[in-house]
Amino acid sequence: RNDLLIDTHGRRITYLRVSVTDRCNLNCIYCNPSRYAKKLAHSDILTYEELLSIIEAGAGLGITKVRITGGEPLVRKDACDFIGSVSAISGITDLSLTTNGVVLADCAGRLRKAGVNRINISLDTLDRRRFKTITGHDRFDRVWKGIQAALKAGFSPVKLNMVVMRGINDDEVADFARLVLKWPVHVRFIEQMPVETRLADAEAPLLGPDIQARIADVGRMVPIGDTGDGSTAQRFTIDGAMGEIGIIRPVSCHFCKTCNRLRLTADGRLRPCLMSDRAVDIKGPLRGGASLSEIEATFREAVRLKPGGHNAVGTNGSRLPREMWCIGG
Ligand code: GTP
Ligand code: 5AD
Repeated sequence: RNDLLIDTHGRRITYLRVSVTDRCNLNCIYCNPSRYAKKLAHSDILTYEELLSIIEAGAGLGITKVRITGGEPLVRKDACDFIGSVSAISGITDLSLTTNGVVLADCAGRLRKAGVNRINISLDTLDRRRFKTITGHDRFDRVWKGIQAALKAGFSPVKLNMVVMRGINDDEVADFARLVLKWPVHVRFIEQMPVETRLADAEAPLLGPDIQARIADVGRMVPIGDTGDGSTAQRFTIDGAMGEIGIIRPVSCHFCKTCNRLRLTADGRLRPCLMSDRAVDIKGPLRGGASLSEIEATFREAVRLKPGGHNAVGTNGSRLPREMWCIGG
């Protein structure tokens, strides 16, 4: 088919990350939305109808995977119904969600029924008091209930994302790893990307090999080879475990060569790369009455702009955009 999205480096783009809101019910120290924002105005945000027509156009061009992100996607009104409509789009065969889990206990079952098959939950500590320090809110118990609800609802898999922060939660790496012994979860450790500062100026983040060393006591880690699905994580099993371990290394070992993604921001821009400031406005054309082929042209333009790679986060002036909270991680 000549209608597929293939970039100038031969990568086929099949994965769209859709941020449905810039709002969040947590205020995590590494993301810190309240420090910057100026929240987007209601009229700046794509309506569900607009989001659906963009995703539909993408599906016509070969997008098969959609991940719903935010901000916190579940704080947007009627998120569940919207997600159900996404799953009904022909060609979308893998629908997933990244959430902080705060309101998940209320809607995990509905989300599963709406067609979400995989769910990633951000959780950076197992300690209730520390949770408040990291996120600004005393909501650990709600997230923990959300995780239990997700397991019960039958998402496969349930992934837990822990951003490893030196001096803040790095003493909990082994405790997190131990969760996979008892629960069928994928625990993924993420190198902290400095937001808006050069790596040289930030406190050195804990890198993949150091993280792995802290898991050594938990059990023997056996690498799972690259599964060819453009996964962000280096994956491992542990003998006798119910779940698995992943290490995501955006700082020390990025995955540009197999990157298959585009991002749609809540305010209606297609971003070819998390690390690149370039973006293509899709809201303007859509609201101006663009035809399907004009919307498709916007996708092609974003794909054309996709860089072959970026420098390791934080080096050579390569910075994580400040507005992480509305790009969806
Ligand atoms: P899967 O679909 O399960 O592979 O999900 P994922 O790992 O892509 O999604 P998730 O939202 O759980 O993100 C996990 C981590 O990967 C976060 O820290 C993201 O910021 C990081 N990440 C996701 N996409 C990109 C990307 O395109 N580039 C970089 N550098 N990091 C990314
Ligand atoms: N560094 C690494 N990971 C981050 N995330 C958000 N900000 C950062 C950062 N600065 C993670 C969140 C979530 C995922 C989508 O991105 O914890 O799990």
